[in-house]
Amino acid sequence: MQTVHTIAELRAQVAVWKRAGERVAFVPTMGNLHRGHIHLVERARAWASRIVASIFVNPLQFGPHEDFAAYPRTLAEDSRQLAAVGLDLLFAPGVAEVYPRPLEAMTQVTVPELPAVLCGASRPTHFLGVTTVVTKLFNMAQPDVAVFGEKDWQQLVIIRRMAADLDMPVEIVGVPTVREADGLAMSSRNGYLSPEQRAVAPTLYATLQALAERWRSGERDDLRLEEAGKAQLAAAGFRPDYLEIRRADNLQRPAPEEATADLRIFAAAWLGRARLMDNLPLAFSADA
Ligand code: PAJ
Repeated sequence: MQTVHTIAELRAQVAVWKRAGERVAFVPTMGNLHRGHIHLVERARAWASRIVASIFVNPLQFGPHEDFAAYPRTLAEDSRQLAAVGLDLLFAPGVAEVYPRPLEAMTQVTVPELPAVLCGASRPTHFLGVTTVVTKLFNMAQPDVAVFGEKDWQQLVIIRRMAADLDMPVEIVGVPTVREADGLAMSSRNGYLSPEQRAVAPTLYATLQALAERWRSGERDDLRLEEAGKAQLAAAGFRPDYLEIRRADNLQRPAPEEATADLRIFAAAWLGRARLMDNLPLAFSADA
């Protein structure tokens, strides 16, 4: 596995592969890798002969009081894991390589509407930071395919929309969430949990599963289900941020006449200083 830190080196290697007719897949990350990230790299093999991953803790997607400084940076261990699954190229730029001028003076990429709900409601500039950095990373790596996790479903929907609206020549692929044995979605932020909080954390997934089950067995009052879910989380010791049923494709609230739409249930909740997120499909069956 080759590791590069500059855009010029990244571009030079990708250009060699493309001239040889190879397809390039790209897996952007912020590092502190776990099996969820590694699974994205493994899945990327299905779409391309060369795989590039990036590790960049993007300051633009953290709010002023969020955990940018504390976000774990574990490049040596991340590199070891990526090499072990046969990654071809790791791009690990410094902040000055990505943002050579002050952040507020850099051009930004905004997707309308979708970033205003769910995570974006409590993190108002987060997705602006994500879409800006992902655009830049796409322009740097020029991949044929880019792979994202369904764990961050809203991010996936926003990036799909951005790529479509801006005619980006890249195919966006989503990969299902990788979980711990007890159901907890893998996340770099799980490391913030104390042993006691770690024992409670799977309740988030269990709560969403129970609500999805109630939906499948015919309960259709989404607001009531949401309130029940939030109460359950609060009782377990979480501080719920949101728990909402929305359309999978455009994140809008389901209208009653849209009951057959592809719906998902989304939640984010604080447990100590960790903000945990999860989402599940609400498979609808007309006779359920
Ligand atoms: P990060 O949180 O490091 O996640 C990198 C990728 O891994 C994202 O596509 C995310 O959805 C995926 N991922 C995280 N946990 C996962 C899990 N348990 N199962 C499957 N996939 C999982 O998301 C970001 O970084 C950043 O916003 C980024 C896109 C890199 C832009 O800075």
